[in-house]
Amino acid sequence: MKIGILISGRGSNMQAIVEAAQTGQLPNSEVTVVISDKAGAEGLQKAKERNVETLVVARKSRTREEHDAGIVAELKKRNVELVCLAGYMRLLSKDFVRAFPDRILNIHPSLLPAFKGLDAQRQAFEYGVKFSGCTVHFVDESLDGGAIVVQKTVEVKDDDTTESLSTRILEYEHALYIEAIARIVEGNYKIIGRRVVVAEN
Ligand code: GRF
Repeated sequence: MKIGILISGRGSNMQAIVEAAQTGQLPNSEVTVVISDKAGAEGLQKAKERNVETLVVARKSRTREEHDAGIVAELKKRNVELVCLAGYMRLLSKDFVRAFPDRILNIHPSLLPAFKGLDAQRQAFEYGVKFSGCTVHFVDESLDGGAIVVQKTVEVKDDDTTESLSTRILEYEHALYIEAIARIVEGNYKIIGRRVVVAEN
């Protein structure tokens, strides 16, 4: 399956996905392009070093719809079949979501629907929860709102800080994202309403 990844920053999830595809840990998958909306995104260099095509599609003064149309065109040109958001810091427009029905994934560093939006790890830490985690979900037009594919719980330890909790969650994010993509690529899932469940092939 041809995968396109959208980033805005560091790109550690992107790197994990690229490496899993290149080493065969993610079978039948190829990351064909990494697109950033930010010219200075650290992840761009990491993608180049791994011989993946990179593109910057900056928003400039365009509307969300115009910007998204530009990105969709680049993805379609490369026959991308699965779009993975990996630290991409913008909501997608309706037309973007409709261009890839049930074919856009995102990773969020909390157990959704808790702690949506920015700084999820800080929100969880300050709330005082004993467990947080990470979620890979399908993307719809709402913020962190689409159907959940997989989740992983991560314990909040007494001596944690927001930073140590974020670091520990991130370690689980990489494996979880690869697990979710593998499920989509293998096709052993069904979407029933909002529920994504495992299905035998
Ligand atoms: C991750 O914590 C991810 O869950 C969130 O943004 C962060 C991106 O990190 N959506 P990276 O760019 O993948 O390193």
